[in-house]
Amino acid sequence: MQKVGILGAGRVGKAIAVLARRAGLEVAMVGSGEPVDEVVAADAVVLAVPLGKFRTLPAGHLAGCVVVDAMNYWWELDGARPDLDDPTTSTSQTVAAFLEGARVVKAFNHLSGYALEELARPAGDPDRIAVAVASDDRRALELVEVLVDALGYDPVVAGGLAEGMRFEPGTELFGADATAAEARDMLERFWNTQRGRVVARARGSR
Ligand SMILES: NC(=O)c1ccc[n+]([C@@H]2O[C@H](COP(=O)([O-])OP(=O)(O)OC[C@H]3O[C@@H](n4cnc5c(N)ncnc54)[C@H](OP(=O)(O)O)[C@@H]3O)[C@@H](O)[C@H]2O)c1
Repeated sequence: MQKVGILGAGRVGKAIAVLARRAGLEVAMVGSGEPVDEVVAADAVVLAVPLGKFRTLPAGHLAGCVVVDAMNYWWELDGARPDLDDPTTSTSQTVAAFLEGARVVKAFNHLSGYALEELARPAGDPDRIAVAVASDDRRALELVEVLVDALGYDPVVAGGLAEGMRFEPGTELFGADATAAEARDMLERFWNTQRGRVVARARGSR
């Protein structure tokens, strides 16, 4: 991991850029309408645009890239979007379906931009907290675990992209300053929450 690309130069994109530079990584970050060639040449590309705009992402350029989905459905900003609030599908699965060929990993979505910058700690620090990660691509997941660790967080694997649902907005882990052990407990407890029960019923899985 040498270079991080970032699509979206807003609050969360800038926070990740600060952490990546602090970790000694190269950063290429662009806002809307800018050329993405340098960004997509990075080892991992963070998506930090409003989720409601995911269809404006350069899908063709992202094919084959390890893509880190830090986006959340935020109805106040994104508007009512039943496609992004479907209990059978995590938002990262919806993004992955659009970004055909991209190796999508969900990460960095459940902490605020402020927390991301302020709460990063070196490995072994007793105050270090967790960032949950999920992907259907094991090698991409491992690469993003390395990135999460380098940026100052303990990666906690939630499972495949469908499990990204367990750290979307409205879940216990979303916005929590949780250690790795606490984050694992929160992910497990998801199935006993109202949203967990809705998801399980919709998926017919539990
Ligand atoms: N803010 C947080 O604390 C936080 C924390 C974790 C996750 N998130 C999630 O991260 C995402 C970004 O949030 P944010 O708060 O950083 O938003 P933001 O401050 O509004 O920034 C979004 C940026 O994305 C740019 N953009 C829009 N479409 C683009 C495209 N196709 N290519 C490149 N750039 C594009 C926007 O540029 P223009 O202004 O030119 O359109 C803007 O600079 C959201 O999904 C949010 O839910 C946010």
